[in-house]
Amino acid sequence: MLKTAIIVSVIGIGLYYFFIPFATGSCEYYGKERLDGKTVIVTGANTGIGKTAAADLAQRGARVICACRSMERCNAAVADIKRETNNVQVVAAKLDLGSMKSIREFAQMFKNTEKRLDILINNAGIGCRNVDKKTEDGFEDRMGVNHLGHFLLTNLLLDMLKQSQPSRIVCLTSLIHWTTTDLDFDNLANHTSTSSCDNYSRSKIANILFVLELSKRLKGTGVTANAVHPGLVQTETLRSARESEGFLATSYTKFMEVVFLLVGNDARRGAQTTVYAAVDPSLENVSGQFLARCKIDTPSPYARDEAVAKKLYDMSLKLVNL
Ligand SMILES: NC(=O)c1ccc[n+]([C@@H]2O[C@H](COP(=O)([O-])OP(=O)(O)OC[C@H]3O[C@@H](n4cnc5c(N)ncnc54)[C@H](OP(=O)(O)O)[C@@H]3O)[C@@H](O)[C@H]2O)c1
Repeated sequence: MLKTAIIVSVIGIGLYYFFIPFATGSCEYYGKERLDGKTVIVTGANTGIGKTAAADLAQRGARVICACRSMERCNAAVADIKRETNNVQVVAAKLDLGSMKSIREFAQMFKNTEKRLDILINNAGIGCRNVDKKTEDGFEDRMGVNHLGHFLLTNLLLDMLKQSQPSRIVCLTSLIHWTTTDLDFDNLANHTSTSSCDNYSRSKIANILFVLELSKRLKGTGVTANAVHPGLVQTETLRSARESEGFLATSYTKFMEVVFLLVGNDARRGAQTTVYAAVDPSLENVSGQFLARCKIDTPSPYARDEAVAKKLYDMSLKLVNL
């Protein structure tokens, strides 16, 4: 009896402290780098991983521009971050990544008012949902916001990133990208799918392919670009999944809610790899990489295909009219 209790306890402790943190991508970044005098943009900074990462970077002394689509939510988050960090250099700004007009206005405003850009964190994202919605410009919204919106934003800010070098671009992706093995280039921005995570996964592999090609184009400029998988993080990410239709999809969402509740990392732990990507000195010259669990990792074979990355980049340029 005692022997069984000991074995069960050891397995339980092992699962809780080692296997689950490993499987859910948990890590802790201990670097104490300061960012005084540096300027950072975090998209989708009003909640979840974005808000926590913005707070961490503000704590390090950075001027942080929280770029969000809802100014009400943004102002509330900025007030929280200022209170937590005592950093008054935290600013709310309007950015709807589902609108090319809004992205251009944000980039112009940023260039008119800011002197430098040291770190751009492309964090905002819409998750799994088996109902497709369109952005203002008519793109399927996961590809439109998660990839094309950030693609346009990054390109519009490249000159400032280059002027401020050494500087970094960090794009949030997901391990779910492994499920995409073909981007369907004929319908890149308007792929329809009834599978909940299909279009989300496509947008997340696009994030990795984007940094792969971008890192090549940025060689020698002092600007790096890397993709980050944050782990399984209990945020508001299941909001979109709750809009799914049908018994199977709604059951899957309920199942995922339980999984997130039981084993999901909190937002602080979920932001660790993003902070690592943004500040760790060992990554100064590392570019085009996939980072997970606070280290360099290996993405799927399709995410490493350089020809696919180039094709995606060229097609994205056309779609966002660059
Ligand atoms: N949570 C996870 O387990 C997990 C796992 C892998 C990857 N990720 C990635 O991590 C990133 C952050 O996710 P999260 O879990 O923190 O999600 P979240 O809590 O749902 O936050 C998403 C953020 O994106 C913003 N956003 C959505 N659409 C936008 C738009 N059109 N324009 C501007 N901002 C927009 C949201 O703003 P509103 O509040 O106004 O909607 C919100 O601030 C995402 O890229 C996600 O794909 C998360």
